[in-house]
Amino acid sequence: MKIPVSLSTAFSEEYEKTLLEFLLEQEMIPDDLSFTSDRFLTRSVIPHVERMSMLFNRIEFDENQPSTPAPAPRAKSGRPMGPKKSEFKKVKTGRDGLDPYWKESSNPENFLLAYFMAFMPCNSARVAAVIAELARLGFKFPEMKSFRGIEWGAGPASGACGVAAGVAHAEAIGIPKTGNWALIEQDKSVLQIGEKWADAYFRSIGFDWSIRPFHRKVDWTRPLLPAAAPKFHLWLSSYFLNEVELPLPELATRLVDNWEFHLEDEGLAVLVEPALKIQSRRLLELRAHLIREFTAPRRKGKYQVLLPCLGHQACGALASESDWCHEEITWWRPKYMRKIDELAGLDRKTLPFSYLVVAKSGRTREELLPALGKSKTERLVSPAHSEGKDLEFFVCGPDGKRRARYRPGSDEEAEEIQRGSILLDADLRGDARASRVDSLGGIK
Ligand SMILES: C[S@@+](CC[C@H](N)C(=O)[O-])C[C@H]1O[C@@H](n2cnc3c(N)ncnc32)[C@H](O)[C@@H]1O
Repeated sequence: MKIPVSLSTAFSEEYEKTLLEFLLEQEMIPDDLSFTSDRFLTRSVIPHVERMSMLFNRIEFDENQPSTPAPAPRAKSGRPMGPKKSEFKKVKTGRDGLDPYWKESSNPENFLLAYFMAFMPCNSARVAAVIAELARLGFKFPEMKSFRGIEWGAGPASGACGVAAGVAHAEAIGIPKTGNWALIEQDKSVLQIGEKWADAYFRSIGFDWSIRPFHRKVDWTRPLLPAAAPKFHLWLSSYFLNEVELPLPELATRLVDNWEFHLEDEGLAVLVEPALKIQSRRLLELRAHLIREFTAPRRKGKYQVLLPCLGHQACGALASESDWCHEEITWWRPKYMRKIDELAGLDRKTLPFSYLVVAKSGRTREELLPALGKSKTERLVSPAHSEGKDLEFFVCGPDGKRRARYRPGSDEEAEEIQRGSILLDADLRGDARASRVDSLGGIK
């Protein structure tokens, strides 16, 4: 995914300074030295990071051999990183997420600290990248005086802060710096931290966004919000929907039912989920059910999937049982996080994720994403590898997903072609197994 340089560095020095001040203010760490102390991190943070890392990467245990998981990888500290036997069951169901884990951990304060230091910034960066992609393609909200956003399963407000970073560092998408966020979260302690952190972070980048925390467990069998609740311009969830137990057709209906009443016309729903196969395919299946919902006469053609697919075509990845679809961004990690990664044996120079953006709008794609004009579009859904003078990659577009080759005319053009790039009016010859791009109208 192409993000502006200023956004790729938005989570480095200044961010780290704000985060450190916040941790000290909230007494989440004993002193500023512990922030980067091997001893403190190894004792108080790394064991939780390792556990959570397994929880979020449950696919290794979920997918192929649920009864005989692969040998647990070892962290640099030498400790095996796999979940304990008792945790394995939880991981395997793929449903429990961080609840009741927030409470059950032997040291909930350090568990929260570990999530806050090691996972929250990554999810903020992912959400920020989605906002940047909207900006890159020319999306703009109609004029609004004051912005209203809602984040579901907000945890420490990672998503809301990601939107702020995206708006601050990407071209304006019409979200003003005055507004309000509603944060919905079932765990009180993480919600309290989320409220305070969002406030501190918003202020640090000059945003006048207020926060209303709502401590509640989302019950999908009832309307998610009271009738008197307002409509929001942005409906956001990050690493949340994969924890919902509802069958996907029902989840799609419930989401759109709620968007009917609580998403503004011309508003957006941004759904960010893990990049792993199971969760990513789940999101792709949810997309298919949403599209079915959108075509129901009662929805009056008011909704459309905008990103990453740029249309309602059948999903190219779902066509194969073993395929899935994800994005990836490169970022400058905060320095302390490099240390955490080193100690926990993680490599997070890049951040993979899956996402979906839905617009509640009857406008055409050309009106919503003017940077694409009327062009036919194919998106690169893999990196581009050199094959002699050619580049080889997978693209996904109106005719599904296909392997394709293209010979760029210059080094600059070659550099433009990367995961997430959009080929405009590509002249494709061949079939899904091997196509050649004979000519291009442009690259976005
Ligand atoms: C993996 S965390 C993600 C947190 C945050 N959105 C982020 O991206 O860092 C999932 C969050 O959803 C919350 N959650 C899960 N199910 C929920 C429900 N039914 N109602 C409210 N919150 C829920 C969990 O407590 C947890 O904080």
